[in-house]
Amino acid sequence: MAALGGCAVLLAAALLLSAPAATEAYDSLDPNGNITIKWDLKEWTPDGYVAMVTIYNYQQFRHISAPGWQLGWTWAKKEVIWSMVGAQTTEQGDCSKFKTNPPHCCKRDPTVIDLLPGTPYKDQVANCCKGGVISTFNQDPANAASSFQISVGLAGTTNKTVKVPKNFTLKTPGPGYTCGRATVVRPTKFLMGDGRRTTQALMTWNVTCTYSQFLAQKTPTCCVALSSFYNNTIVGCPTCSCGCQNNNTHPGSCVNPNSPYLQSAIDGPGKYTGQPLVQCTSHMCPVKVHWHVKLNYKDYWRVKVTITNFNYRMNYTDWNLVVQHPNFNNITKLFSFNYKPLSPYGGRINDSAMFWGMKFYNDLLNQAGPFGNAQTEILLQKDPETFTFEKGWGFPRRVYFNGDNCVMPPPDAYPWLPNASPPMKQPWTLKLLVFWTALATLLAYYV
Ligand SMILES: *[C@@H]1O[C@H](CO)[C@@H](O)[C@H](O)[C@H]1NC(C)=O
Ligand SMILES: *[C@@H]1O[C@H](CO)[C@@H](O)[C@H](O)[C@H]1NC(C)=O
Ligand SMILES: *[C@@H]1O[C@H](CO)[C@@H](O)[C@H](O)[C@H]1NC(C)=O
Ligand SMILES: *[C@@H]1O[C@H](CO)[C@@H](O)[C@H](O)[C@H]1NC(C)=O
Ligand SMILES: *[C@@H]1O[C@H](CO)[C@@H](O)[C@H](O)[C@H]1NC(C)=O
Ligand SMILES: *[C@@H]1O[C@H](CO)[C@@H](O)[C@H](O)[C@H]1NC(C)=O
Ligand SMILES: *[C@@H]1O[C@H](CO)[C@@H](O)[C@H](O)[C@H]1NC(C)=O
Ligand SMILES: *[C@@H]1O[C@H](CO)[C@@H](O)[C@H](O)[C@H]1NC(C)=O
Ligand SMILES: *[C@@H]1O[C@H](CO)[C@@H](O)[C@H](O)[C@H]1NC(C)=O
Repeated sequence: MAALGGCAVLLAAALLLSAPAATEAYDSLDPNGNITIKWDLKEWTPDGYVAMVTIYNYQQFRHISAPGWQLGWTWAKKEVIWSMVGAQTTEQGDCSKFKTNPPHCCKRDPTVIDLLPGTPYKDQVANCCKGGVISTFNQDPANAASSFQISVGLAGTTNKTVKVPKNFTLKTPGPGYTCGRATVVRPTKFLMGDGRRTTQALMTWNVTCTYSQFLAQKTPTCCVALSSFYNNTIVGCPTCSCGCQNNNTHPGSCVNPNSPYLQSAIDGPGKYTGQPLVQCTSHMCPVKVHWHVKLNYKDYWRVKVTITNFNYRMNYTDWNLVVQHPNFNNITKLFSFNYKPLSPYGGRINDSAMFWGMKFYNDLLNQAGPFGNAQTEILLQKDPETFTFEKGWGFPRRVYFNGDNCVMPPPDAYPWLPNASPPMKQPWTLKLLVFWTALATLLAYYV
């Protein structure tokens, strides 16, 4: 009898542990994803050093889009920044104690931003000047890092006296990243152009930053609609997925495509802050992903995925989509998108894939309007063991657009197979748990 009760407790514990916590600090689809910032000290100067700082994006699918990264830290001593190449600080701070040649920045906690594309050549270093935009290694390895050079004064001039900066922060420009402390690591080795000689940094330190959706606390920016060939109901994005239309409290929170005020709304106050201006829809999301189960063959089935941009203020460049579906270990053919399977946990789970557009064809998701969409069709080989159209199996479990979780319709609203009973609102494990708990309580009472 006690065994049954114990079983229920174990089951309850297992359920609790397996439930994805809203506060999880990392992403289960990219458990090792991080951004690493590396400082390589290249030369000592009379009062400090010159360093090359590089930000590497080691996240599978989360990139940093416009208006770009902002890197901050607190100096350990009274350091100043004499000059920078390929980036700049947002504020100079109080340099009044320098009579001539004031430094670039005298703040104790400088904030650095990238320069814009088109910066004069003499102010550039390799990998700089992309307006703070960083892609992912999967999508665009050449643009997955961002560098600048910094000349630091009033600092130590040997690797014993230099103090590493503290309290690193990375903003995009919103919150979301948490950075660890800088650790001195083995000096980086650089291979010279002819490949026959290496040089090395005088000293190197690394800082690792990780992203948390919970810290970012963003309102959703995307939602999912579902349909299928076997049922003509289109299950749209849930109402108010990303906000509600409310003309009383937020007039102008959205705009209709045929509105005479469309252009003035686009040019309105949010134009330069990147604040979205969405087309009026019931979901109010800037982006909608539509998953349509299109065809059923003997050994294969076919899905059509359409991404629609409802934001009048954004052409999404280098967009990406991540989808989790149990049949994604068997994608046979894909049309007009690039694709890479994501295998978190060393390939033990293979049910997720990353999709992105093809260069010069559909890597740009145009602003809301007739061209604001991109679509693909995916052909999947059936695994007879698991394949079914019942209980919404054909629909994705999770969808991310540009790294942000998309709002899905509730499972009990999914289109049904004809003659099928409505899907259970509770997973069977929960029903079993309720049953066992009731039984255990009853037995405990009688024994
Ligand atoms: C950051 O990501 C890189 C590349 O995936 C990995 O080698 C490194 O161990 C990660 N760092 C941390 C602290 O997780
Ligand atoms: C670093 O940040 C912590 C918490 O935000 C703060 O308590 C500490 O004083 C900061 N250190 C420096 C050197 O600014
Ligand atoms: C420091 O970061 C660089 C760049 O990501 C990496 O190549 C190197 O292995 C890191 N060093 C350590 C000790 O983690
Ligand atoms: C500091 O420099 C000395 C030689 O000048 C070297 O032996 C030592 O490994 C360096 N330490 C670090 C942390 O780079
Ligand atoms: C809000 O206003 C827009 C046009 O200004 C209109 O299309 C929309 O239906 C209105 N929404 C509500 C909920 O009144
Ligand atoms: C998007 O790109 C088109 C040209 O491809 C351009 O006309 C439009 O102004 C751009 N929109 C935004 C918001 O940048
Ligand atoms: C998952 O995919 C990786 C690489 O594509 C492969 O090596 C591995 O065997 C796969 N694992 C399973 C369980 O299918
Ligand atoms: C794809 O499905 C076929 C048929 O079920 C199976 O033989 C094959 O192993 C599957 N491939 C993967 C990578 O799971
Ligand atoms: C299609 O699915 C909906 C649930 O989304 C259900 O109400 C409807 O009865 C289904 N239609 C048929 C023909 O089964």
